[in-house]
Amino acid sequence: MTQPAFRRPVMAGNWKMYKTVAETRDFFSAFLPMVAGTQDRDIIIATPFTALATAVDATHESSVSIAGQNLHWENEGAFTGEVSGAMLREVGCRCVLIGHSERRQFFGDTDETVRKKIRAALAAGLIPVVCFGELLGERDSGHTEAVLARQFAGAFTGMPGQLTPAEFSRIIIAYEPVWAIGTGRTATPEIAAAAHRFLRKLSGDSFTPELAVRLRILYGGSVKPDNCAGLMAQDEIDGALVGGASLDPKSFSAIAHS
Ligand code: PGA
Repeated sequence: MTQPAFRRPVMAGNWKMYKTVAETRDFFSAFLPMVAGTQDRDIIIATPFTALATAVDATHESSVSIAGQNLHWENEGAFTGEVSGAMLREVGCRCVLIGHSERRQFFGDTDETVRKKIRAALAAGLIPVVCFGELLGERDSGHTEAVLARQFAGAFTGMPGQLTPAEFSRIIIAYEPVWAIGTGRTATPEIAAAAHRFLRKLSGDSFTPELAVRLRILYGGSVKPDNCAGLMAQDEIDGALVGGASLDPKSFSAIAHS
């Protein structure tokens, strides 16, 4: 691990639409003893909405934080099927994923709704974990940086709703190239680090160099116990956002200790 001391690593699991309440209980009884002594990093798990209360309850006396996987930008209203930031906060979430590529691809999240959700999460006192990443065609045609710049601007600097530096200081970014999610095809540590460097540069240009240096950027996309250490060896990579391999306590604990 070579992250600068002031960027505390973040190892985050994204369970997607997996695990019932009973399976959530089983996971934490196995997982918590495995990470009991781990104090030098943040561990976050984003569960389905139905498992949040159980997960918060199970992790109550641990250093593991629980996250939602999405939120609506309004506090309440006639929005069937949606959950607000205030509701996530009340149930005990500390963080929320925003703009995951599956939300953008299948559920209509756009740069604009991502921006509204970030503002709502901050207003509710949640830490937004904001996901960016290019499609395979966009990488192959040399458009990775243009896509990341568009997503970054849409999320943080677009009007109305441009973030203040104080608000931006509460953000975590996850770089997840869409071609690496659930495909078994991880970005090489060098490819990931180059994208992180670019996102950090955008942060410096849009906010301040100090905030850019402190920003934590996670890599996501087929992170497994056997490739995580190589990714974490890059000082640009401050942690991981893990899908499939976060479902098993042993494999997520191995990743969390990388
Ligand atoms: P994966 O998913 O680790 O299963 O590729 C990552 C993610 O979608 O956050």
